[in-house]
Parts: sequence; structure tokens; C-alpha cells
Amino acid sequence: MKDYETLPPVVVDRGEGARLFGVDGKTYIDIVGSWWCNLLGHCNPHINNAIKRQLDSLEHVIFAHFSHPPAIEYAERLCAVLPAGLCKLHFSDNGSSAVECALKMSFQYQAQMGKPRKQRFMCLSEGYHGETIGALSVGAMDVFTGVFKPLLVDSIRIPAPDCYRCPYGQERASCACPCLDAARAVFERHADECCALIAEPLLQGAAGMRIYPEEYLRGLRALCDNYDVLFIADEIATGFGRTGELFACARAGISPDLMCLSKSITGGYLPFSVLAVTQPIYDAFYADYSARRAFLHSHTFSGNPLGCAAALAVLDLLLNGRDGAAPALQTARGNAVWLHETLQSALGGHPHVGEIRAINLINAIELVADKRAKTPFPPARRTGRQIYKKALELGLLLRPLGDVLYFNPPLNTERSILAEAAALCKQSIETGIQW
Ligand SMILES: Cc1ncc(COP(=O)(O)O)c(C=O)c1O
Repeated sequence: MKDYETLPPVVVDRGEGARLFGVDGKTYIDIVGSWWCNLLGHCNPHINNAIKRQLDSLEHVIFAHFSHPPAIEYAERLCAVLPAGLCKLHFSDNGSSAVECALKMSFQYQAQMGKPRKQRFMCLSEGYHGETIGALSVGAMDVFTGVFKPLLVDSIRIPAPDCYRCPYGQERASCACPCLDAARAVFERHADECCALIAEPLLQGAAGMRIYPEEYLRGLRALCDNYDVLFIADEIATGFGRTGELFACARAGISPDLMCLSKSITGGYLPFSVLAVTQPIYDAFYADYSARRAFLHSHTFSGNPLGCAAALAVLDLLLNGRDGAAPALQTARGNAVWLHETLQSALGGHPHVGEIRAINLINAIELVADKRAKTPFPPARRTGRQIYKKALELGLLLRPLGDVLYFNPPLNTERSILAEAAALCKQSIETGIQW
């Protein structure tokens, strides 16, 4: 709040594609996709129309015993494109709620499968899964969880891969994932008492867009199988094309037991989330009323029809394209290498750019005090924030994660806008701070 006294909030009253328009007449390129949820541009005409049409027939309805056509159609269309085996859906209204739901369901599942000792959760260090107490309990970032420690459930942490500062001295291109040994050791010790492992597949977003190898994700899946632990993929940030495939798990060729989806699911329009699970999980809760095996968990706005209408329009645009435009998934893939090369040639040689890592259109630029030693800047210096301020002045919304600047734009952003953003980013880094 005090920061706002020197940098007042930006008030925007209009958006179009990747651009936001301030009430003061300034324009901003939303290169962070409004916290990674804006998937297909602001005020996308196809999504707008889908919501408007839905609004004139049904805005919301109780989602218990009652349903509605957009929910039915969405369930069918989503299940058809989910990784193999995921076939039952539970609707909520934000990412953290989907995570809570996954944790509770895994816990109850193991109890109902006759394994009541399996009560704890495993997670990756540096992971982020949301702000509610359960989600914080499996989040490992002290900056978010520290003060709440006495309230949290004690989860078991696996040291996450850190490919930029790899403690095993491996290079990304040739890595054989020796860090999986540490994960294996944790499974050997704790799997008996664990119901599930939760992880962000391939990309730990809040940790600073840390990208790890597909091989590591496949390794985690195999460990879960071998040690009878459910695998929860938190695809809230990675789902719907962000990593170049519809889901990060698909990119690695694996299927989780439970998958959390939100953010881009409605193109970033509406609070909406889905937990997708397998048939065996569904079956563990299926019984006569008197058996008391049901999963008792609901939210007022679960399955909101406007959200379903937006989510359906998102699938159209991602997979099929509309009005002559190519499928957005394809457009993003077509621009990904070019964007990374553009940023690399603009900034790769900068003495304080330690690494530019990329997966699809997501590019993370890690700023360091010493490039060779990969030493971070002292946090009190707020290096990322200085550059954020400069970028705002120049018309670029480049909100950093600490000292990691990143691009995570709408998938259908035109190359000319990406090029403009890259140039503004370079200018912000070069002029935003006294190095
Ligand atoms: C991987 C991941 N999981 C969960 C969440 C929480 O989602 P929400 O903010 O909708 O509660 C986020 C939000 O950034 C996220 O990145």
C-alpha cells in the first residue's frame, strides 16, 4: 500500500488484444497476460459474443442436481482433449479452490481405498499452488507461507530441479536428471504416509518461471506409480497451450491422476476452474448414500454458465481458429522460436542478464549481479521493480517475479507487438536502473 504512494495504481478502462488503455490516455502492452490468464487477448470478439449470448439465456444456476447445456457441452469437449485417462470433472471457481479440491479428494480417496495411513502430501520446493490454507501447505515459497506456518499442514518437500543454478553441474541440453535421485530418496522414506504428490508440470511459475526437463516430470510420474502415490498436476498456469501443447503433461507424454485447471481456461475472462480425475478415483466415491463415500465439496459458483460459455469459445479459438485466424495454439508455436531468438539477440549479451529461458511464448529473463557466478542482486535493491517502473513509463506491463522479468503474452499476439514489447523491454533494462 505504501508503494502505491510513490507509484499510483494504473487505472485502465479498455483492452483490445494484447493492449490495455489507461484512463490517462496511455497504452500498455500486457506482456504478462494479466497474471498469465489472458490467453487470447483482451475483449476477444469470439469470447465476448459467446458470453453475451449466454447472458441472455442463463446467467447462473445451482450446480447440484441441476445442470445446463454449456456445462454438458464443455465437459464433453474438455474430456475429449485431456491427457488419456482423465474423464471426470469437478467444477470450482478459482485455481486455489481446484487445488483444495484435489488435496481433499486424494486424501479421502486413499482412506476409502483402505489406506488410512496415507495422510500427507508431497510437493516440490519452490512450488506455488494458491493462497488458501491447503494450497499454501503444499506451496513451498517462504515469502507466501512464512507467516502462516503455524496454520499449515506439514507437507513433505522434494528439492525442485533448479536448472539455471544446477547443483549437479548439468546443462539443460544434455541433462540426465540426477536430481530425480533426491526425489526417489523422499519417496523411499515417506511414500507410505503420503496420499499424493502435487507439482506444476514443466514450469514453476511463481518461483520465477523455472523450467525443468520433461524427463524429470516423467520421473515423478513413475515414482508415484511405483510407490502408490497419486499424482496431482497443477496445470493452472501451464494449461491451455501455454507450453506449446494443450497441457504440459501432454508435452511430456504423461497423464496425471488429478489435474487442476483455471486461469486461461476462460481466456482469463471469468473465475472458473476444473479438477479432472480418472475413472478409478471417481469409482472410489461411487456408492449408495448410506455408505457415506461421496465427496462433499461444492462452491456457490461452480460450473457457472458464463464461464462455461467462455471456456467453450476458448477451445474453439485454440484448436480450430475462427474468422480466418489460425488456431491460436499453432500461431503461438509459430512465433515461439522467433520470440526467443529476438529476446536472446537483444538481451542475451547484457552483463546482468543471467539467462533467458523459454517454453513456447513464455520467456523468463533472470537478472543477476554477477553473470559468471550467477549471483542474485540483493533483494532490498528491488532491481526487477525498478525496471517494471521504467517499462510502465514506456508503455509495457512487465510485472516481474522478484528479479525475473518475463513474457507470457496472449497466444495470438501478433509478431509486430511481440517485437515492440521486446524493444521496450530492452530499453527498460538499459535505462531503468543504474547498473
Ligand atoms: C500453478 C498455480 N496454481 C494455483 C494458482 C492459484 O490460482 P488462483 O489465483 O486462481 O487461486 C496459481 C496462481 O497463480 C498458480 O500459478
